[in-house]
Amino acid sequence: MKINEIAKQMVLKGKGILAADESTGTMTKRLASVKVESNEKNRLTFRHTIFTSKNISKYISGVILFDETIRQNKDGKTISEILNNQNILPGIKVDKGAKKLVGSDETVTEGLDGLRERLKEYYNLGARFAKWRGVYKIDTQYPSQNCIVANAHALARYAALVQETNMVPIVEPEVLMDGKHNIKKCYDVTSKVLEETVKQLRIAGIDFSGMVLKPNMILNGKESGIKNNKDEVADFTLKCIQNNLPTETPGVAFLSGGQSEFEATENLNQINRQNKSSFAFTYSFGRALQQSALKTWAKDIKNIEAVQKVFDERSEMNSLAAKGEWSADLENAA
Ligand code: G3H
Repeated sequence: MKINEIAKQMVLKGKGILAADESTGTMTKRLASVKVESNEKNRLTFRHTIFTSKNISKYISGVILFDETIRQNKDGKTISEILNNQNILPGIKVDKGAKKLVGSDETVTEGLDGLRERLKEYYNLGARFAKWRGVYKIDTQYPSQNCIVANAHALARYAALVQETNMVPIVEPEVLMDGKHNIKKCYDVTSKVLEETVKQLRIAGIDFSGMVLKPNMILNGKESGIKNNKDEVADFTLKCIQNNLPTETPGVAFLSGGQSEFEATENLNQINRQNKSSFAFTYSFGRALQQSALKTWAKDIKNIEAVQKVFDERSEMNSLAAKGEWSADLENAA
């Protein structure tokens, strides 16, 4: 399949991406929060339970995997085979994490050394798209120009290598929700970050028809004390993306970034209701797709059916939101 076809399939109407690519450290925190021991077997059991839920193929176009998971097998099948058999594209997180930026309290994402070789290996393991996340925080003096440029440059070099390997890069510049700032500040910072990211992607010769953008929604800072208004979130988010993203890009798959499951779905729905552009707007959620499933699993680690039901319900709500057809009433009825 050509990269523009893969990208279109990733953001197909009513489908979205499951971000199950938590590093072992992050997964250990997630499991600790529900008092489950983090070992290879438990991490696989939870993920395999979700990847084989009854309706996953209706709502999920692709799954972002972590290095450990793409190498794992269950019942004689690789995880990529299990996903492919359900018409779900396997993807892979390839960055090596956000590391301290010299002279600043900010980070730059690393992982470019040896990336060409790693990508070839992941392609052979079944991956058809990849993910790299740059992180930016908002504070009086942040993000610095150095942080914005360094991360944009790394994202562009990563994206070029991914396309060279015939895979689709998910380009994820995440402006964190943390902070006391208001929504306008988030809009200004995210606009600046997207502008620089697109500039660097152009310099690197990226084919925008073969990539997917994974941005944050535009929100008030978590510690601002201001409640988000969904119409305002949708207005600012749409404006920010339309002003910066080249129209050849087939779509945008948002991260949830610490929003509650309900809030992430509600905002995605409103964005789709107000969308007049050619971009598809969907989800690439980690926490906002898995949180309830994880809590259910922790109650009874053997009750696979209950976990799958919860995951399917959450995915269905997001699928409706990706079409602008979700409502709070449907949520309560589920
Ligand atoms: O890189 C972040 C994940 O892919 C998305 O996770 O939806 O929990 O923010 P999140």
